[in-house]
Amino acid sequence: MRQLLSLSRAARLVGVARGALQQKIHSGELPSFDGMLSADDLLRLYPAVELESDIGFERVEKIREEAFGMRLRERMLPSQAILSQRLFEQSRELADLRAHLQRYHAMVVELRERLRDEEARGVGAVRESAGKLGELLDRALEAVLGQSEAPNALALMDDMLRVMSAHVVVHPSRHEFFVDGADTILDAALRSGLALNYGCSNGNCGLCKARVVSGQVQKVRQQDYVLSEAEKRQGYTLLCSHTAVGDLVIEALESVEAGDIPPQQIVAQVKAMQALGDDLMLLRLQTPRTNRLRFLAGQNLTLTLGEASAQLPIASCPCDDRNLDFHVVRNARDSFAQRVFGSLKAGHAITLFGPWGDFVLRADSPRSILFLACDTGFAPIKSLIEHAMALELSERLHLFWLATRPAGHYLANLCRSWADALDNFRYAPIAAEHADATELVRRIGAEHADLNAFDIYLAGPEAFVATASMALLERGFPQAQLTAAIV
Ligand code: FES
Repeated sequence: MRQLLSLSRAARLVGVARGALQQKIHSGELPSFDGMLSADDLLRLYPAVELESDIGFERVEKIREEAFGMRLRERMLPSQAILSQRLFEQSRELADLRAHLQRYHAMVVELRERLRDEEARGVGAVRESAGKLGELLDRALEAVLGQSEAPNALALMDDMLRVMSAHVVVHPSRHEFFVDGADTILDAALRSGLALNYGCSNGNCGLCKARVVSGQVQKVRQQDYVLSEAEKRQGYTLLCSHTAVGDLVIEALESVEAGDIPPQQIVAQVKAMQALGDDLMLLRLQTPRTNRLRFLAGQNLTLTLGEASAQLPIASCPCDDRNLDFHVVRNARDSFAQRVFGSLKAGHAITLFGPWGDFVLRADSPRSILFLACDTGFAPIKSLIEHAMALELSERLHLFWLATRPAGHYLANLCRSWADALDNFRYAPIAAEHADATELVRRIGAEHADLNAFDIYLAGPEAFVATASMALLERGFPQAQLTAAIV
C-alpha cells in the first residue's frame, strides 16, 4: 500500500525546507496526490535518507535558530506525560495492526483448510479448481513470507517523528505546523509563522479558542478562562494552554491583514542593548511571559520612556512574540533616541503601544519577493524576511540593501548567513556612492527581466521611498504589487 505523507512531514523526514519540495512538485520531479507525497517517490529523490542520519534535521534547526535570528529557545523533549501518551497511542496502533494481522492469518489458514477439504472430497471441476487455487495460495504465501525487505527508512523515521512531535493541520487555511518539545499549540503555530488569533497567551482571554476536529490535546498550563459546556461538547480548547498529544486537525481563526489585530498596551523590559555602529543601537525588549505582543511582521510600535516616545518598526519576527528588536538611530532632535544613547539600561521599563501600519507580507501571494531597503529601512524588511523564512516560502527572496553611510550594512553577516543557509535567498549590499534609488531600480530591472513577476517591499527614508516607487511605476511595475514604508 502506498504510504502518503503531508508536505511538512515529508520535508522534516528528508531534512529539507518545505519550499524545496514545493519546487520539485512544481517542476514535475515529485508527484503529489491531493497535496500528499508518496514515501516511495521521496526515497527515489532522496535515496540517502537513513534512520541514523540526522544531518537534515540539524540543518533545518540551525536555520531556524541562527539564520532566522530567533533567540535561543530551550530544546526540550515533550514532557514525560506527553511522551508516554504518544507511546501509548503508537502501542495501541501497533496492537490494532497485530490483531488485524492475526485475523487475516486465521482467515488464510481457514481458507487453505477448506480448499484442501474441497480437493479431498469434491469431484470433477470443483476438485480440480480447489487444487489449483490451493497451489496458487501456497505459492503466493511463500513469495510474501519469503520476502525479507529492509525496513523503509522513511516509515521508521516517521514513527520516531510522531513520538517527538505532533503534526497539526489548521482548517480552513490548510496551513500545517509541528508541535515540538514542551510548546503549546499556540507557541508552535507562532514559531511556524502562522498568525493564529490570540490575546493574553495566558489562559485568561479566550481569544485563542479553537475547535479540535480530530486528535487529542492535553492541558499544560493553568487557564482561568472558562469554556461553556456547549463549547466543550463541540471540542473547543484554548491553544495557549494545551499541547498536542498526537496529530491534530483544528479549526482556528488566522489574521491576514493589519486590521485583524487590535492595539495593545504592554510594559516591556529592556533585555539588551548592542551598538551596531557609532550612531545605531539594537534595542531588544522583552514582554512579560504572560502578556506578549501580537503583531504582523513589518509593523510599528509606539515606544514610550517617560516623556519621550517614538514610533519604530519592529525588526524581529512575530514567531518570537516576547522578544522585540528595534534599530534606534542617534539623533540630537529625538528625545527617545537621546534616552536610548544616554541613560537607558537593561532592566528599564518601556511602554509599548500598537501595532501600527500595513507594511505586512502578502503571505498567500504566489509571487517571488524583492526587498529594497535603504539604511534602517532594513529593520521592517528584516522582520518580513524572517517571517517569510518561518513560513518556508519557496519563491525567490532577493534583498537589495542601499546604505548611505559608511558601515551602513550593519547586519551584513546576518544577511550573508541567510544567503548561505537558504537556496532561494539572495543578498546584494549596495553603497550609495555606487547607486542612488533610481540607479538601484534600473539595476534591478536589468537583472530581473521578469520584474512584474515579483512583489516588491520598499522601506527607507521618505526621499528613497518616493524616488524608488516613482522609478518602479514609470517602468510599468504594477502598483498593487508594491508595498512601501517610510522609516
Ligand atoms: S490567548 Fe488568551 S486565553 Fe489563550
